[in-house]
Amino acid sequence: MQIVRTSEELTRARAEIGVTRLALVPTMGALHPGHMALIDAAKEHADKVAATIFVNPMQFGANEDLDRYPRQEKADADLLAATGCDLLWIPTVEDIYPNGFATRISVSGVSESWEGEMRPSHFDGVATVVAKLLLSARPDAALFGEKDFQQLAVIRRMVADLNIPVEIVGVPTVREADGLALSSRNVYLSADERQRAVGLPRALDAAKRAIQAGQPVSAALDEATQALLACGFSGVDYVALVDSATLEPLDSPRGEMRLIAAAVMGLTRLIDNLPVAS
Ligand code: PAJ
Repeated sequence: MQIVRTSEELTRARAEIGVTRLALVPTMGALHPGHMALIDAAKEHADKVAATIFVNPMQFGANEDLDRYPRQEKADADLLAATGCDLLWIPTVEDIYPNGFATRISVSGVSESWEGEMRPSHFDGVATVVAKLLLSARPDAALFGEKDFQQLAVIRRMVADLNIPVEIVGVPTVREADGLALSSRNVYLSADERQRAVGLPRALDAAKRAIQAGQPVSAALDEATQALLACGFSGVDYVALVDSATLEPLDSPRGEMRLIAAAVMGLTRLIDNLPVAS
């Protein structure tokens, strides 16, 4: 696996590896099997796979974990090489945001609710960096996890709106044996919090079953909120049934739907989501 730092090196390496179809997997590092599922899926969509590791300052709020975000470049590179990644781009902040950088991509609508409301300007940072990564690496396909469901919807909207010539592929969430979604931020959980955190996928699963069994949506969402508080989450930012493409809330089941939730365990904010069948 070739490792490149600057966009010039990237362009050269892209030509050298003789690619017919390139798939890109953007990440912020601290890689786990969830990221590796994206690399595996990428191999199905292209003959060469590139990954990026860039802890993107623009998508972190002032009080968020930019400084303490886990960084483990060597271990990440080893893992990517072992999983069959062909090219790894680790840009510097200066390479992505050179002096004078003044452009910001803002996707209205889909990025304004839920995470967008809790984390103002987060999705502007995501959309801007993903646009730059896509336009620099020029992949044929780019893969993103359903774990960050709203992020995936924002990226799909941006790519469609800007005619960026890339196929966006969503990959199902990889979970621990007990159901907790893998996340680079799970390392922040104490052993006790980690045990309690499984209440999040469990509450979502119960709500999903209730809705699919015909229970009123509002009752199912209320029960999920109560279940989260009962198992030790200190706050529930939201639990909602939403339209999968627009993220608009649904008060009754309709079309392609997703149950989404965010809740706080100790000092750590966890998000998760599940598909709901109509
Ligand atoms: P990061 O949190 O590192 O995640 C990189 C990719 O891995 C994202 O597409 C995310 O949805 C996916 N992912 C994370 N956990 C997963 C899991 N348990 N199962 C499946 N996929 C999972 O998301 C970002 O970085 C950044 O916002 C980024 C898109 C790189 C832009 O900076």
